[in-house]
Amino acid sequence: MEADHTQSIHDSIYQLVESATKCLIISHQQLETVCQLLEGEFRRGLHRETNPKANVKMYPTHIKDAPTHHTTLGHFAEPEEGRFMALDLGGTNFRVILVEVEGTQFHMDNEVYSLSQELMHGPGWQLFDYIADCLHKFVMKRKLSGHSLALGFTFSFPCQQEGLAHARLVNWTKGFKCSGVEGKDVVALLREAIERRQDLDIEVMAVVNDTTGTLISCAYQNRECRLGLIVGTGTNACYMESVDNVHTMEPNRLPDANPDLRADNPDLRADNADLSADNANLSADNASNKDENHDQRRSSKRQQTVVNTEWGAFGDNGILDFVRTKWDEEIDLFSVNRGKQKFEKMISGLYIGEMCRRIMVDMALERRLLFDSGDIDRSIAEDGHSLCLADSAKREQRNRLLREGKFGQQFAFETKFVSMVESDPVDTFDSTRQALQEAFAIDWASDRDCAIVKLICTRVSTRAAHLVSAAVACLLNKMARPYTVVGVDGSMFKYHPHFHSIMAKKTQELTHPEHNFQLMFSEDGSGRGAAIMASVARKQRRISKQMSEQVQRQSRTTVQGTS
Ligand code: GLC
Repeated sequence: MEADHTQSIHDSIYQLVESATKCLIISHQQLETVCQLLEGEFRRGLHRETNPKANVKMYPTHIKDAPTHHTTLGHFAEPEEGRFMALDLGGTNFRVILVEVEGTQFHMDNEVYSLSQELMHGPGWQLFDYIADCLHKFVMKRKLSGHSLALGFTFSFPCQQEGLAHARLVNWTKGFKCSGVEGKDVVALLREAIERRQDLDIEVMAVVNDTTGTLISCAYQNRECRLGLIVGTGTNACYMESVDNVHTMEPNRLPDANPDLRADNPDLRADNADLSADNANLSADNASNKDENHDQRRSSKRQQTVVNTEWGAFGDNGILDFVRTKWDEEIDLFSVNRGKQKFEKMISGLYIGEMCRRIMVDMALERRLLFDSGDIDRSIAEDGHSLCLADSAKREQRNRLLREGKFGQQFAFETKFVSMVESDPVDTFDSTRQALQEAFAIDWASDRDCAIVKLICTRVSTRAAHLVSAAVACLLNKMARPYTVVGVDGSMFKYHPHFHSIMAKKTQELTHPEHNFQLMFSEDGSGRGAAIMASVARKQRRISKQMSEQVQRQSRTTVQGTS
């Protein structure tokens, strides 16, 4: 009985859709090629000569690891206790977060604010004023006014990082297009908006990409975390790379040569110094300062820094065209950043639902295989009966709904509906029907229609998970460590019922067997990481100030002694 039912769902029409969407399946061999191509792109991004023309930019972040004897938590400099704020901007919402650091515990409290299309596409000052406004609302609601607060800014777009609290936006991604921000330091824009209000006592201490935030926050939980991954509205990853291999870092930013980091520099300021254990862990009464510096010079060869790959732009030069489909072309054509972020457009939450909708539209309106669009005609042809008035009216009405209703509207099928559809057990379609009703107001889907919708969603999301797996495997093979923890955050990874398991399996298959790994989901890791950075930067500034006072005291004593 059950077998009959399954057979009737998977009939010849279903088979036709199955063969029409086969192009969404990427073979293992093709995924291996994707890995190899990405490896080449990483190399081009890391080298000074090839970087200007590289698509995958591999931005250095100015965050370095600490020699192990300096830390008790993870492998970055330790935060100090207290209350810190974080601001997380990078998706369709943005969040203000309050993080309380208490020993090794982080207590989080946050508020989500929506971002309208008008804000995402309007002038930059309007966006930053709105952010400052939300910060003010948050401070009032949590009764924090009167406290001076340090803030870490998670700004999840490609940036040329020029210091811990200086990040120049290179170009917008993920549907943002505010004018007057590209090429500018986003921390300066945020500070200006805060200053314009004159009622906020908030100091922006650090800016991080969401991948970096995730890596940092996971690294505090597990020392082996060396890779931060986001599969959310967009996709991207950062990882720990040996400083020696990052040829695009300015020479004076290298730890040995950086004048900002010298303890006797009275101008030492947290916001223009690199953040590493070299300076963050120096203590004010450190008598063995010279030995430590010597130690650091010796170990600088092995020092690692966080590199933000910005792999979303992989394929912008056409090298991924062998796995792209006509629907990928359409997604790109109708996006606000045409020709850009082609890898991201095949994977992330902003596009996956829309990709499924476009395929459904194709199957329904072009091929007439879905939502009864061809069934009435077919039954007439097969049974030879004539079209009765009721059939004709029904057909008219359905076709109108398909052509003029939400089914034809861009982004009507949000990615959350893909997760809903795929959460249905085999041949049960309750969630699928609910998704079709909510997204398109379609309430007449047959079991076969639902099975087709599920097939489309599964093919699109599996392809996305496989592509991310290939990219993660590429980094794991490149890092060549015996065991690496991958910190992961993002709505696609979090809410899709099978993304994690598909990824774990495929990444395993594509990674050399000697490089073991584990995917570690990090709830809110990106925001927590920014707050940690704000705390570390404040501690660094306090210590630096104490040190320069000490140096000044010492030189006064010397002068008095000699006179
Ligand atoms: C986009 C951004 C990148 C971010 C990613 C995930 O790819 O360019 O900076 O990390 O989305 O949010």
